[in-house]
Amino acid sequence: MQFSNRAEKIKTSALRELLRNADRPDIISFAGAFPSPKAFPVDIIKEITIDALDKNAANVLQYGSTEGYPPLREVIAEYSSSKGLNTQKENVIVVSGAQQGLELVAKTFLDPGDTVILGAPTYPGGIMAFKLFEPRFEAIPVKENGIKVDLLEDRLKRMKSTPPTKFMYVVPNFQNPSGATIPTRNRKMLYDLVCEYDLLILEDDPYAELRYEGKSLKPIKALDTEDRVIYLKTFSKTLAPGLRAGWMEAPEDLIEKFAIMKQGTDLFANLLGQHIAYGFMKGKFIEPQIRKIIPLYKDKRNRMLEALDGSFPAEVKWTKPEGGLFTWVTLPSHMDTTELLGECMEQKVAYVPGSAFYVDGGGLTTMRLSFGYVSDKQIEEGVRRLSTVIMKSSQTK
Ligand SMILES: Cc1ncc(COP(=O)(O)O)c(C=O)c1O
Repeated sequence: MQFSNRAEKIKTSALRELLRNADRPDIISFAGAFPSPKAFPVDIIKEITIDALDKNAANVLQYGSTEGYPPLREVIAEYSSSKGLNTQKENVIVVSGAQQGLELVAKTFLDPGDTVILGAPTYPGGIMAFKLFEPRFEAIPVKENGIKVDLLEDRLKRMKSTPPTKFMYVVPNFQNPSGATIPTRNRKMLYDLVCEYDLLILEDDPYAELRYEGKSLKPIKALDTEDRVIYLKTFSKTLAPGLRAGWMEAPEDLIEKFAIMKQGTDLFANLLGQHIAYGFMKGKFIEPQIRKIIPLYKDKRNRMLEALDGSFPAEVKWTKPEGGLFTWVTLPSHMDTTELLGECMEQKVAYVPGSAFYVDGGGLTTMRLSFGYVSDKQIEEGVRRLSTVIMKSSQTK
């Protein structure tokens, strides 16, 4: 079979093979970024679905508009405006999950060899979506305040002569994978840099609503007087990923471009999912739903941090996120989390090794633990198993 050059270059990774079994029921998996099934608002979804089909089946089951179901675009614009953004319906395109948004932005902006700036570590689905369009990556270290702004500035100064830099990819709240949140001051510094160097920001913000403590921060998009921020949101973490519904906010001319680029992919996002999302927003069920799931995840986060405190050796460090679904663990420098995964899978516990979140093979001593999907008991038992493997490996090195 003669694949395209692009398809030839994309290989399945050894890591993917290792994690192939992570969803087996006998394995305690801290690997996937899955929400808890307990968070799914099943009854309201049922009600909205039946109502939509009873009253409007001819439209709900029909082809839809590429930009999205117009009333949904309208309520999204109202929702975002209530969060400090200046959004009109025309600034919104509904996408089949944030993942499609990442791919659409890449497809719209990247030629082979163009530069994308991203965090190290960063969300691997972003790396995967961008890679298809063959950019070069500039990876900027991510610490407790997110992407290091001083290092970014140095890098931008040095990069002046490199091929065009098209956009910078950031996850501002409770980043996947590190759990880091960019403080307001750094958001402003990032935005100023982007203006100075004539770049765009792709702000991917699935976790803002899952804040368990501290004050909500306005998105970078709220600073966007120069139309440089593409703001990406999803219903996956607040409602359910199975709906495949999210949205992007951008200037109207860019939304039109995205719509053209989207047509070749799927014509329009799942209309039933869009009607369900609309029912939630219009019926004002979304805020109560968020209020309902916050204690659920907060409790899981607390249990995870307590379990780590109770079992992990003192030389292991981890982040204490104020929200989201992840903590980021760093082992001592002689340990390699990809090597350890085989042993952990034998002990029936899974995580994602840090190397998956880097474009340049970094992160060897780190791992991401997701706490959203696992039960309370599994958190305790899974951390105990991990700890046993880590301590054993530490002694044999
Ligand atoms: C940072 C980030 N962006 C995008 C996505 C994809 O989300 P969706 O389910 O909306 O495609 C995820 C999913 O985990 C994520 O963590």
